Amino acid sequence: METAKKVILTGMQPTGKLHIGSLLGATNNWRSMLDDYDCLFFLADQHAITMPYVPAELRKNSLECVAQYIACGLDPDRCKIFLQSQVVGHTELMWVLGCLTPIGQLERMTQFKDKSKKVGDSVCSGLLFYPVLMAADILLYSADLVPIGDDQKQHLEITRDIAQKFNATYSETFTIPDPYIGETGARIMALQNPTAKMSKSDSNQNSVVYITDTDDAVRKKISSAVTDSEGAISFDPENKPGVANLLSIYAASTGKSIADTLLEFSSLNSYAALKRSVADAVIAKIAPIRAHYCKIAGNREYLMSVLETGRQEAQKRASKMMAKIYHKVGFLENW
Ligand code: TYM
Repeated sequence: METAKKVILTGMQPTGKLHIGSLLGATNNWRSMLDDYDCLFFLADQHAITMPYVPAELRKNSLECVAQYIACGLDPDRCKIFLQSQVVGHTELMWVLGCLTPIGQLERMTQFKDKSKKVGDSVCSGLLFYPVLMAADILLYSADLVPIGDDQKQHLEITRDIAQKFNATYSETFTIPDPYIGETGARIMALQNPTAKMSKSDSNQNSVVYITDTDDAVRKKISSAVTDSEGAISFDPENKPGVANLLSIYAASTGKSIADTLLEFSSLNSYAALKRSVADAVIAKIAPIRAHYCKIAGNREYLMSVLETGRQEAQKRASKMMAKIYHKVGFLENW
C-alpha cells in the first residue's frame, strides 16, 4: 500500500523583492522537497500588515512574489501556491489558539521585542499575535515539516507548544510539526553589516542582493562587502562574520559544503579573489531565475490562475480541519 506523503508547509511575507537570503535560506530548500513531499507554499500577506505598509504595494508585491516563487523553481504543477488572506480559516484558527496562549509568552518573543522597538508607541496588537497566526498557518494543514531559516526557530517552538496545549485540552488533533533548517544558507547576513540578517528592509541597499539584480549590481555589492583586516580565509562566524558570510553564500549558491568551500579557498588568502568567486557563483545561480521571472512576471492571468488552483486545494483542507476544531471547542457546526 502506498503511504501518504508527509506535508510540508511554509511561507514568506510578500513585502518586496526576494533577496539571496530568502533564496539560499528558503526557496532553494523548498524546491528540493517537491518530489518527496506534499508541498504547500503560501504568501503571508496577513502577517505583512503587522508593520507599516502601503496597500497598493502589498497587492503588487503579492503577485510579484508568486512569480518569484515560480522562477525560483517552485513548479505549480508539483506544489500548491496560495495567498493566506484568500483562505478562510487562518484567522479563525488564530483566535481559537490565541485563547490558549499566555500573553506573557507572546511578549517574550524576540521578533516582537525587536520589531516593536522599531515602531515604538504605535506597535499594534497584530504584531503581538503574529506567532499565533503563524501557528494557525501551520496547524491548519497538519504540516509535518516546516522549512525555515534560523530567525523563525522561536516561532516554530511556540507553534509546537500551542499544538501540544490544544491536544491536551481538547484531545489529540494537531500534528506536532518539526522545523527543517538547511545545512547552508540558514542565515545569510547583510553584506555591509554581517552581524545582522540580510533583510529587504535594510536602510543600506548595498547590503542586499536581490534575485532580480543585474550581474553588474551583484558584482558591485559583493565586492564592497565588509570583511576584516586579517586577510586570512577561515570560517569563524563569531570573529570573522564578513568572511564567514561570503563563504556561506558561496557554499549555498554552489551546493557545496562549508568544509569543501574552505578547502577551495583556504590557500587563497585574498579577499578580492574570494569576492570575485562569490560574485561568479551568485550570478550563475540567479541568472536563470531572473530570466524566468522576467518571462512570467507580466502574465497576471497565469499568476492569478496559479493562486486560484492553490486556494481551492488549501480551502478544502482548511474547511475540513476547521469543522473538526469548531466541534471540539464547542461551537455549533457551521463549516
Ligand atoms: P520571512 O518573509 O521573513 O522570510 C521567509 C523565509 O526566508 C528565511 N529568510 C532567511 N534565511 C536565511 N538568511 C536570511 N537572511 C533570510 N531572510 C529570510 C526566513 O527564515 C523564512 O523561512 N513569519 C514568516 C512567514 C510565515 C511562515 C508561516 C513561515 C508566516 N507563517 C508559517 C513558515 C510557516 C516570515 O516572516 O518569513
